[in-house]
Amino acid sequence: MSAHANIPAGTDLLEEINRLRKERNAVILAHYYQRPELQDLADFVGDSLELSKKAAETDADVIAFCGVKFMAETAKILSPEKIVVLPDMEAGCSLEDSCPPEKFAAFRERHPDHIALTYINCSTEVKALSDVIVTSSSAETILSQIPRDQKIIFGPDRHLGGYLNRKFDRDMLLWPGVCIVHEAFSERELMKLMQANPGAPVAAHPECPPNIIDHADYVGSTSGILNFAKTFPGDTLIVATEPHIIHQMEKAIPEKTFLGAPGADGNCNCNICPYMALNTMEKLYLCLRDLEPRIEIEEQLRLDAKRSLDKMLEMAAGTVGKGDLGNPSGD
Ligand code: 13P
Ligand code: SF4
Repeated sequence: MSAHANIPAGTDLLEEINRLRKERNAVILAHYYQRPELQDLADFVGDSLELSKKAAETDADVIAFCGVKFMAETAKILSPEKIVVLPDMEAGCSLEDSCPPEKFAAFRERHPDHIALTYINCSTEVKALSDVIVTSSSAETILSQIPRDQKIIFGPDRHLGGYLNRKFDRDMLLWPGVCIVHEAFSERELMKLMQANPGAPVAAHPECPPNIIDHADYVGSTSGILNFAKTFPGDTLIVATEPHIIHQMEKAIPEKTFLGAPGADGNCNCNICPYMALNTMEKLYLCLRDLEPRIEIEEQLRLDAKRSLDKMLEMAAGTVGKGDLGNPSGD
């Protein structure tokens, strides 16, 4: 049954969401890849690290998470006493799917002298099997605190891991996962766009493959890219990440032009995250009304996963808002 079927005709969704958020003492958190209307009504919009911190700090009774499942699970792990609802439980992530916990556990067993530094885009089970979690905005700070002779497994994103290996001259063992959204950028189409906009810098998320990163003037998390958009000196920026972030750029700097990097068809629509796109106003209204679907995590699993997340929050202290993996050439 579609979400609409449960909504009385004539419902003013925004009015109802605003009424319910007060009634439920709910906080609405949204990732930068959400539809503009969800970003606009959220109490807080941010990158994965910032949203985790907000979830850990909030005194709301309910967290309505406009993002994907691993993000809502992170909120529940950090705030177990809160009701955490996700508008659509099917909002997964290709990186999470690429890393089944049994296979990850077996991989760890084959490398007993390695620690597991794991990207937050993974299941709660994989977090429980990891030593330290990172986000794209905290990875650099955290990796720099790990001695160079410590052997490391990095999963599940081989592009982020490969980028960190190249930039910091490390040899982390990489799990072979990818983000289907960032994999879809076309180098050929990007070069055409760069030629058509001479001098326009390129800002890229580190989930992009190396042939896209090689063209980037700036590489960083979503909040890092947004900061770059606010400060770069030119008037046009090419953005190689999920295009919904451009909404925040256009709001903050309406006089500048932001161009989404294209996919193979020359159109950036194939770079819309299909999982993030599942969340809608209708589903947000329903989850605030019904307090379903809810994230539930078995307590021992939660505690096991919390260890690696707490380690991230401790080691990343001070990085929130910086969102920075910086310049790919390291200067
Ligand atoms: P950020 O941590 O940069 O917000 O990235 C999350 C994500 O899923 C990117 O695809
Ligand atoms: Fe996962 Fe990629 Fe979507 Fe981010 S953009 S949630 S990494 S599939």
